[in-house]
Order: sequence, then structure tokens, then C-alpha cells
Amino acid sequence: FGDQVLQGRKVVVSAGPTYEDIDPVRFIGNRSSGRMGFAVAEAAAQAGAQVTLVAGPVSLATPQGIARRVDVRSAAQMHAAVTAATADADIYIGAAAVGDYRPNSVAPQKLKKHDGAALALQLTENPDILAHLSAQRAHPFLVGFAAETQDVERYARDKLQRKGLDMIAANQVGEGLGFETADNAITLYWADGSAELPRADKALLARQLIERIADRYRAVRG
Ligand code: PMT
Repeated sequence: FGDQVLQGRKVVVSAGPTYEDIDPVRFIGNRSSGRMGFAVAEAAAQAGAQVTLVAGPVSLATPQGIARRVDVRSAAQMHAAVTAATADADIYIGAAAVGDYRPNSVAPQKLKKHDGAALALQLTENPDILAHLSAQRAHPFLVGFAAETQDVERYARDKLQRKGLDMIAANQVGEGLGFETADNAITLYWADGSAELPRADKALLARQLIERIADRYRAVRG
């Protein structure tokens, strides 16, 4: 499917969370299971694309038809892997829930408690992978995801513009949708349009998403 547009195209998909280490036994992470991104990667492969899947720490088997899987842990590692994989890619789809912050430093030994005293963690902002890609002169067609708990359209359109994306797939998270679940529901936005992809399991939703991406890709890059 995908009307042959994606046949032989190089597509990079990121999936899953990132883990930002605090010390040898603790980290800051998030609830992403990787299921949405893995489904998107599989759907892109079914549409004939040559897919590289950059995966954060998840416990999922590699879907059929994926050309290459790169496993990473932190946002910095995901940034490096995505940058390398997209050097000659046609499309990048960022379904990963990349940690926005990391601890300023990773303690070499396990942190100890100190008689009830408060502990403050200093955090540094991670680089934005999508924004970095869109700032490059020649870059792939860029599709972001937006995980929002409120004001979905406003925040999604803001990310579309601010990160310089071609499309953004917005999902309202919480209420049994989005993170960790089998189902999702997406509203897709691009500069002059939008489309509803109503609640469905992630495999079906991913195929619909890939068809829409193929349509837009053909329209602007065809
Ligand atoms: O993995 P599942 O359990 O199946 O859940 C799926 C999902 C809810 C994680 C997925 O559908 C989703 O919404 N992924 C994006 C989650 C997210 O981090 O959204 P955000 O609004 O914080 O980021 C917006 C976009 O910028 C995303 O495409 C993200 O990959 C990208 N980003 C964010 C931070 C950063 N430093 N670099 C980035 O590229």
C-alpha cells in the first residue's frame, strides 16, 4: 500500500522512551512502550520503504521487514543515532518520547540518603532532535509526534511551526490512550490541513498514518 510512493525510500523511525541516568541504578524515564513507533516502522516497511528503526529502551521484538535496528538508551545517544541514520534519508518520523532534560552529571556511585535532608537534582535541557534536523539545509521530510494532555491542536500546531516540521501527529495522552496502550487516536496537522485518524489499534493507525505521510510526501517532494 502507500501507492508505491515509499517504494525504496529511506525512512528512519524513532520509537520508545529515553532513559537519563542519575546514578548506576536510577534514571529519569517516561511511559513510552515503543509500540506506536514500532507499528509505524512496520507499516513503512510494508509500504516498501527501507526502514531504520532507532529504538530507546523497550522490550519489543523487531518487526518484520525492518532493514536495520539501532538500540539506544539516552536522548544524547538517540540524537547521535538519528543524525547518522538520517544523513541520506528521505523521511524521518519521530515517534520517540525523547526526554526533555537530563541530570547535569551522572553520579559514579549509588546516591545515599542523608538523614531526611531534601535532595535537589539539577537538570540540563536535551537538544531537540527534530529541531536540529529541520535547521539543516538539506533535510528529510520531517514528521513529529505531539503527546499532549490538554489543548492538543494549539500545542501541536505550535510544535509543527517551532520545530519546522512537514507534519505532526498529535495524540491526547491519558484516559487509556497514547502511552503504553494497544490503541491510540491521532489528529494529523500540516501547514494547510488536518486529518482525523480515529481510535484504533496502533497497527491499523500506523498504516493510515503512513498512507497520509506518503500522500503529503508526494505532494511536496514528489
Ligand atoms: O510508545 P507508546 O507507548 O506506544 O506511546 C506512543 C507515544 C504516546 C509515545 C507516541 O505516540 C508519541 O506521542 N510520541 C512522542 C512523545 C513526545 O515526546 O512528544 P513531545 O510532544 O514531547 O515531543 C514532540 C516531538 O519532538 C516528538 O516527535 C519527539 O520525538 C520530538 N523531540 C522531543 C524532544 C527532543 N529532545 N527531541 C525531539 O526530537
